Amino acid sequence: MVGTGLASKLVAKGHDVRLGARRADNEKALAWAQSSGERASNGTFADAAAFGEVVFLCTNGSHALDALALAGAEALGSKVLIDVTNALEFPQGGAPVALSGNTDSIAERIQAAFPRSKVVKALNTVNWRVMADANLVGSGDHHLFLSGNDPEAKKAAATLITESFGWKHFIDLGDVTTARGTEAYIAFWVRVRLALGTSSFNVKIVTDTTALP
Ligand SMILES: NC(=O)c1ccc[n+]([C@@H]2O[C@H](COP(=O)([O-])OP(=O)(O)OC[C@H]3O[C@@H](n4cnc5c(N)ncnc54)[C@H](OP(=O)(O)O)[C@@H]3O)[C@@H](O)[C@H]2O)c1
Repeated sequence: MVGTGLASKLVAKGHDVRLGARRADNEKALAWAQSSGERASNGTFADAAAFGEVVFLCTNGSHALDALALAGAEALGSKVLIDVTNALEFPQGGAPVALSGNTDSIAERIQAAFPRSKVVKALNTVNWRVMADANLVGSGDHHLFLSGNDPEAKKAAATLITESFGWKHFIDLGDVTTARGTEAYIAFWVRVRLALGTSSFNVKIVTDTTALP
């Protein structure tokens, strides 16, 4: 859902996009490429990583490193890697549990395993439709969070996300370890989603400006 949702919007905005999967003949990826015009193509994770100037990681969070291992360090190079993944478990009869967040995060594991990649955690705090079109909610007056070690990579990611998906407001949380916060937030997000009965929502951060130092 996330991969094809973002890929379709990027193609509509004039980007060439190669959608990766474990197998080059992945049916969903093939169907997306065949129905999305000449700027769209598909291939293996390695093909997609080698093709892109920027790489979006939209895999199952628990298998993010497996997918990136298939992509390979050479294909990923020193590109900006926008990591939108979360890892969540739904124990039978219990509340959802985020599988990362307190002392570790998927984004940190990726940055450690692929030190040349410029990992930027972003977009993982909203549903895929909102990711691809911020204006779906509150005319875009709400926030997206960024985590990553490289300030220029965060700037580049924010520019692409603004131009392609209409996001206006970003909060740079800091280095890649701050992804622990947004990856843990997903367990709260699920509870809000259940309470509201819709996935089309987001948060806006407001401060008491009189209390700032
Ligand atoms: N759905 C949302 O609205 C939403 C919102 C925020 C964040 N996210 C996060 O975005 C990510 C994508 O979510 P999704 O629902 O679109 O897809 P998903 O079902 O979580 O993941 C599908 C992707 O994971 C890959 N994958 C699955 N098992 C794998 C394995 N063992 N090794 C390597 N790759 C594997 C699949 O590859 P193949 O194509 O080869 O099967 C496919 O590319 C997730 O991390 C999710 O938590 C989703």
